[in-house]
Amino acid sequence: MADNRSATLRFDNKEIELPIYSPTAGPDVIDIRKLYGQGGVFTYDPGFTSTASCDSTITFIDGDKGELLHRGYPIDQLAEKSHYLEVCYLLLYGELPTGKQLEDFESLVTNHTMLHDQMSYFFRGFRRDAHPMAILVGVVGAMSAFYHDSTDISDPQQREVASIRLIAKMPTIAAWAYKFSIGQPFIYPRNDLDYASNFLRMCFAVPAQDYEVNPILSRAMDRIFTLHADHEQNASTSTVRLASSSGANPFACIAAGIACLWGPAHGGANQACLEMLKEIGTPDRIPEFIARAKDKDDNYRLMGFGHRVYKNHDPRATVLKQSADEVLNLLGVEDNPLLQVAKELEKQALEDPYFSEKKLFPNVDFYSGIILEAMGFPTSMFTPIFALSRTVGWISQWKEQLDDPQLKIGRPRQLYQGAAMRDYVDVEKR
Ligand code: ACO
Repeated sequence: MADNRSATLRFDNKEIELPIYSPTAGPDVIDIRKLYGQGGVFTYDPGFTSTASCDSTITFIDGDKGELLHRGYPIDQLAEKSHYLEVCYLLLYGELPTGKQLEDFESLVTNHTMLHDQMSYFFRGFRRDAHPMAILVGVVGAMSAFYHDSTDISDPQQREVASIRLIAKMPTIAAWAYKFSIGQPFIYPRNDLDYASNFLRMCFAVPAQDYEVNPILSRAMDRIFTLHADHEQNASTSTVRLASSSGANPFACIAAGIACLWGPAHGGANQACLEMLKEIGTPDRIPEFIARAKDKDDNYRLMGFGHRVYKNHDPRATVLKQSADEVLNLLGVEDNPLLQVAKELEKQALEDPYFSEKKLFPNVDFYSGIILEAMGFPTSMFTPIFALSRTVGWISQWKEQLDDPQLKIGRPRQLYQGAAMRDYVDVEKR
């Protein structure tokens, strides 16, 4: 990684040499780790807009080209030719599996999908109107109370078992969160179904009547999982890494990631986007919403537009736009008014200089909500589905971090701008 170039930083009467590293792809990186020791100064980068928090070999995004690679493989190829569990294997272990490795991995995941039976009582403790994300954060965090034999992070075998358990049980947990919220009995996983079909069945079957999984819907579901599987050092992944840097157990770390994903600027954007499309309602109202998004005095934003890293088309949005057409065609709702509004909004926004100058393009959330709603999911399930899909990315990054011999607890510094030291004043004198 190191090359023999360096950057020189001069300030006051000091001169500090900082090593420069050349990555496989992406901009060069200046190593500032010695800066405080040698120069007595911190760097200031709220929002980490110019800071690499770790080195990683898992995922790479070229935001200018609109490119997303997992272990070097472009996401559009994976979405078209691969499937979610194969991508999970790739993310976790670094290479595409052989046929036998894939078969073993799929069987391993499939055989861990059931939850400890005691967990069903844990679900029942929530209010029926709890948001499924609230249930997900709680239940995943609580896994550390149910699976004691996979919380010792110093044991590679326990780390492996925890990883498989999380990937395998997330669909069951997410589906049960949904079932609980609609007052229906929990549906147990079935080992003869693939990952996506199993999830759809656990969400939509009822004991009174079995559920035939439509292979086109199952393929679309699998594609949504695949497109959300990892996205390098985003907010929730960085949260998982930060939580894990203290030595927290894997279930606690993934619960932290889920909590972060919940926010509307991150995983909550797909729910917010569909709500926005419904609020717009008809194409004739689009200019009004575009005008609001452009108004400096209004903090309204077009949901599903813009991205911290992509300054070009989000490749995941391109795949999902096509998927939305396929699913709505299959369901016979190709004239779905939300899809019409979405397509027209995308067109008008992309033609508007405000959006082109700021390089704001539709992101992954723009079309995913339309597909999920057409499949029958309520908006409250959109972010849980994102969390389910992203679990493998969080786990892969978590594993990578724990294998790093240079691992240190994450501890950012600050630019303190509060009061200088002052003496306490007794309450009667204030
Ligand atoms: N609508 C209108 N204007 C926007 C939008 C938007 N969706 N997104 C950014 N802008 C404008 C900002 O007002 C800002 O303008 P200014 O320079 O005149 O002040 C400029 O574009 C840059 O915006 P920042 O907020 O500085 O960009 P940042 O990289 O911090 O934000 C973010 C990225 C949070 C995704 C933002 O684009 C946004 O809020 N989008 C809507 C929410 C959304 O879709 N989130 C999903 C992200 S993808 C994911 O998590 C899976």
